Amino acid sequence: MEVYEREHMNTVRALSPECMVLLKSDGSFPLGEPGKIALYGNAARKTIKGGTGSGDVNTRHYVSVEEGLENAGFSITTKGWLDGYDAIWNAANKEFRAGIKRTIAAQGISAIMLGIGAIMTEPTYALPLDGEGDIALYVLGRISGEGADRAPEKGNLLLTDTEVRDILQLQKQYARFMLVLNVGGVVDLSPVVDEVSNILLISQPGIAVGDALADVLLGKAYPSGKLASTWAAWQDYCPVAEFGDPNDTRYKEGIYVGYRYFDTVDKAPLFPFGYGLSYTQFAFSDVKTAVQDSKVQVTVTVTNTGAWAGKEVAQLYVSVPCGVLPQPYQTLAAFAKTKELAPGESETLALCFAMEELASFDEESCCAVLEKGDYVLHLGADSRNTAVCAVVRLEENALVQHLHDAGGKPDFADWQPEHRKTVQIPEGTPCLEIKASAISEIIPTAPAIDEKAAALAASMTDSDLALLCTGAYNGAAGSNSVIGNAGVTVIGSAGETTGIFPEIPALIMADGPAGVRIAPKYGVDEKGPYSLDSGAFSEVLDLIPDEMIAALGFSREMLNEKRSGTVHEQYCTAIPIGTALAQSWNPAVCEACADLVALEMERFGIHIWLAPAMNIHRLPLCGRNFEYYSEDPLISGKMAAAITKGVQKQPGRAVSIKHFCCNNQETNRMHSNTLVSQRALRDIYLRGFRIAIEDSAPATVMSSYNLLNGEHTSQRRDLLETILREEWGYRGIVMSDWVSGNINKPDDKYPGAVASGAVQAGNDIMMPGTPGHQADILAALKGEAAYKVTRNDLERCAARMIALAWRLGK
Ligand code: BGC
Repeated sequence: MEVYEREHMNTVRALSPECMVLLKSDGSFPLGEPGKIALYGNAARKTIKGGTGSGDVNTRHYVSVEEGLENAGFSITTKGWLDGYDAIWNAANKEFRAGIKRTIAAQGISAIMLGIGAIMTEPTYALPLDGEGDIALYVLGRISGEGADRAPEKGNLLLTDTEVRDILQLQKQYARFMLVLNVGGVVDLSPVVDEVSNILLISQPGIAVGDALADVLLGKAYPSGKLASTWAAWQDYCPVAEFGDPNDTRYKEGIYVGYRYFDTVDKAPLFPFGYGLSYTQFAFSDVKTAVQDSKVQVTVTVTNTGAWAGKEVAQLYVSVPCGVLPQPYQTLAAFAKTKELAPGESETLALCFAMEELASFDEESCCAVLEKGDYVLHLGADSRNTAVCAVVRLEENALVQHLHDAGGKPDFADWQPEHRKTVQIPEGTPCLEIKASAISEIIPTAPAIDEKAAALAASMTDSDLALLCTGAYNGAAGSNSVIGNAGVTVIGSAGETTGIFPEIPALIMADGPAGVRIAPKYGVDEKGPYSLDSGAFSEVLDLIPDEMIAALGFSREMLNEKRSGTVHEQYCTAIPIGTALAQSWNPAVCEACADLVALEMERFGIHIWLAPAMNIHRLPLCGRNFEYYSEDPLISGKMAAAITKGVQKQPGRAVSIKHFCCNNQETNRMHSNTLVSQRALRDIYLRGFRIAIEDSAPATVMSSYNLLNGEHTSQRRDLLETILREEWGYRGIVMSDWVSGNINKPDDKYPGAVASGAVQAGNDIMMPGTPGHQADILAALKGEAAYKVTRNDLERCAARMIALAWRLGK
């Protein structure tokens, strides 16, 4: 390991416990010292550092739970069980991979996504639970990733019969038992949740997972995370919320996503949003509320009343009055985390928000509005453990921003709950008044295009501009993969912009969000750098038909070519997955991880990190939820902003917030149409993006694969020019997601996205780009493509690309 690897690993180890959530505790943990420990569960040895697909990160090594416990001095008494599980898993996996190969052979080109996204369901088995000692851990793992969604089935979202049986038995058998959840998202724990006395959600915290868990078990560190999404029994999620249709998915639940649903219909989840215990206890006191103009500030003193050090999160929710517009029971308005508090120590936190941030989109008037009435403030340590602390009374309706009819419309009206939980205001609650005149209307300034870049674009030919607006990938240039590995300058990077114009530097892009994703090793010979494997295709290469390989710009010879240059390494650090970072409820943790990322970007020559990923956890089934933060847009927006600040404070480094927008499922992801109301679009799905943009000015945005109300997001001018730039004042570029429109199937209801559609909409660059994209843009200038593109549209996109290249590529 090189010095930077070791240092970054130590930082991640120290930050990880902040992302871990203690869900149940009977006081048996932490342990005083290491000793004998019985270790069970599918992730005890096969520990998961993060999910699969483009969100995976190539570390030299990461520490499994087994290794971490041994590093800390524990003696594991269940080596036989762990070996037995390995044998069962290996056999099941062999059969699983053979099944994928058979499907790929049968389906041809359409199966590319299957190969990279499919996840094996947990096998069932019976292994003796005979580890010595009176302490046991059961480490339950679930992995998922790009290209496939999760299923509400045993071994996936649900526990297998084997898992339920073993967990319940271990709880009875050992004096101190902990269920450790090494999962990227919700698992329905209902069959065991009441019986098990200690549950720790370690999530997938990256490279040092085993060491960090050992630190927490021994009390050298303590968990201080809180759930960033509700954990409920599968059958309790909103029944009208459709999911996973390959063609049209209707977001009929409207704004009632996550806790907004559970709280409004007053249904108890297993663990509510914002929930998390500590090794210690905290008390809130001296709660004071003040308003100034349209700003509301609540201060609270948090005291550690227990016997261990810890950190607590104060959470402020607001019940917005239901007027003409229906509202959820409550919405998170602000949060703050204490520093480490020693037993007996206190800290006063200030939680602030501006009333404008609570505005809702009124489809009738196309405005963001605040309706008059009582805004009830609830303060507490999780969404279901709060006390009303004040009422803010708005005397008149107030206009916050004139917006547009944009994003299209669905073919249904949003569902509304029949019965709603009502807000109870205790007598004596202070009431503070705000006048409508204190609410300031937002008048955005549309971003100007850099004049010098515009002048250069104006002097270039149509075909040169088309080159600038498509990535530099051409399949035959030396890269031997395409999804997530199309870069040629830095091997294993995701892609790059053209470098053929001497005055416009090429920009190199690499994936995230759990660290920098590039090839761990690459070769260099007299022809230059080359990669040592076939990237995403390696495992299934022999069964991919030749036509499919050709369609992606390769030949089999190219993929199999063996070169014999010198081998170089570029190992990166896996930071906690997005969901884990959000569970810290601490933007400083995100920024500290982003600092590591920025250093590795600099070391390996990456300009743009394709992260943070910030789609909303709409339902626990989305296969990429682990990359995303939360069901709540405020948490998502604030975490993404912290990551962006961390990366972009380094000159020449930038992020790409993705996937803009409503990319909440992986099923048929390039051709699936999200149908959503403008209210839910604005108030839930776009809100986090807007917060991130306003707080941190990310340099790039990645549009999503899916369609939004019947049109690809990359082709919606009303989304990219009207909402993003005109209404929000966004100044950066928009890039497409990878190979958008290049992998189409005959049975797709909707056509793939095209380059002409992108350029006319203000999606500045198609990534990783193909000559076909350039041809489509040039045809569109002559009115001979699916979309009409003017020279002006093309110059505008190219000028934005030039300005970005000058800013980052110096
Ligand atoms: C993913 C993106 C990723 C891109 C490049 C796509 O398949 O959806 O999140 O950044 O590939 O690897």
